[in-house]
Amino acid sequence: MSQISHELLLIIDFGSQVTQLIARRLRELNVYCEIRPYQTVTADLLKELAPKAVIFSGGPESVTNPDSPRAPAEVFDLGVPILGICYGQQVMMHQLGGEVISGHGTAEFGRAKVTEVEPLELLEGWFQDGPEQVWMSHGDHVSRLAPGFTVYGTSPNAPFAITADVERRFFAVQFHPEVHHTPNGKVLYENFVKLAGFKGDWTMAAYREEMVNVIREQVGDAKVICALSGGVDSSVAAALIHEAIGENLTCVFVDHGLLRLNEAEEVVGMFRDHMNLSVIHAQEQELFLGELDGVSDPETKRKIIGRLFIDVFQKYADQIEGARFLAQGTLYPDVIESVSFSGGPSHTIKSHHNVGGLPEKMGLKLVEPLRELFKDEVRELGRELGLPEHFIGRHPFPGPGLAIRCPGEITREKLEILRRADAVYIDQIRKHGLYDEIWQAFVAILPVRTVGVMGDARSYDFACALRAVTSVDGMTADYYPFSHDFLGETATRIINEVKGINRVTYDITSKPPGTIEWE
Ligand code: XMP
Repeated sequence: MSQISHELLLIIDFGSQVTQLIARRLRELNVYCEIRPYQTVTADLLKELAPKAVIFSGGPESVTNPDSPRAPAEVFDLGVPILGICYGQQVMMHQLGGEVISGHGTAEFGRAKVTEVEPLELLEGWFQDGPEQVWMSHGDHVSRLAPGFTVYGTSPNAPFAITADVERRFFAVQFHPEVHHTPNGKVLYENFVKLAGFKGDWTMAAYREEMVNVIREQVGDAKVICALSGGVDSSVAAALIHEAIGENLTCVFVDHGLLRLNEAEEVVGMFRDHMNLSVIHAQEQELFLGELDGVSDPETKRKIIGRLFIDVFQKYADQIEGARFLAQGTLYPDVIESVSFSGGPSHTIKSHHNVGGLPEKMGLKLVEPLRELFKDEVRELGRELGLPEHFIGRHPFPGPGLAIRCPGEITREKLEILRRADAVYIDQIRKHGLYDEIWQAFVAILPVRTVGVMGDARSYDFACALRAVTSVDGMTADYYPFSHDFLGETATRIINEVKGINRVTYDITSKPPGTIEWE
């Protein structure tokens, strides 16, 4: 069920790769929207959500196939504006009595130019300099309009590229206005929400206020526990829940001995001393490092850490009487992925662990106050809640921590060297003003010693690899093109300042074929 009560725009998802971009565009316009897979949109749900406008997304199917997805018939009787995009356009035409065909000359992929036929309110500001560039990606096209529709724009392979039934405020476009390659797409969305009468009341301050009420209502007087990792998501979730229920929230920060230099002190210090949260600092370094002793296989490392994490968390949670809820920093993209209906079986490259198995095991209910947000919105909410900027902008850090940046066997000596080298490297990146340009940067300590000469004496110490990548979502990545000066200066500093390292290399592998972490 929707948790908040803004004016709502409903996006019915037919499985397009870019549906989430529609949501982004709308939220940039301060319009609150929800994406729902088409199968879940029933007449009852439409009544419950009472959207002020509806968008049909694109999708991979062909409406010429009788089993392909359809919109619920009731949506056309809501009396609100509807915008159909790509497959959404075709399904609208088909359901309202038009015709869609596939075959020779009906496909268009990539850039196309749309020419205006007649002016339309939805396209105010378009066609100022002639035909508009748009992004097409369709195999079928509409060959006959549904009754009541008129054509407003055409492209070479989509005679009905832009159509509308102005009286009913139904609009249908063959292209994708949400993508970057439709440069004026944003204007189209602006016009759509304007004609639908949205006030644009989606702000972070309003969200914060409402979520505080929602959390209070959900939780009542019960106690909530939260696994605080120091990452942005769990930190923002904890800060928000704390604002709602104060001391009824207890955070558990599990220190597995695989954290970066001073990390535990910084995280615990900030939340406990500056934000007044109740934080248990679970000092379990011996347990984790003991069980990892002699283990070099990456997947075994992850499994051990994942299992111990759950055990440890449970141990501390059991000490909190009356705990009935578990807080998690689940984000909107996680929710969407988990209801995806188009995904096929995929290979497990790495078993990323999280606290997902905990609630069932412990009989806890979930509090997920970030479920409606995208990552950048979570950051904005963090700022709104007063978390320091350097905390909000931090690079992602994996749950297994330094264990997977220490290929081969983990020893306390290697971890200590790694921590110090990593601190110098990050300090260099910050000093050169590069931190925010980089998705993730870290040092990996390599399982080899190399010979060097320092102060006329022979050295025989570890080699390390520097890694820095750019990425949008961590799924693909490219190495960061540091200057040779930067690399040289950093290598010198690491070798001078970190005892135990006498050779520094830079990893220039992209992902794929590499992964971001070394293990
Ligand atoms: P890879 O190395 O798979 O990393 O390219 C993609 C992103 O995921 C992070 N990562 C992990 N995060 N548990 C986590 O919580 C893990 O086991 C794990 N392995 C990788 C990695 O840091 C990067 O941001």
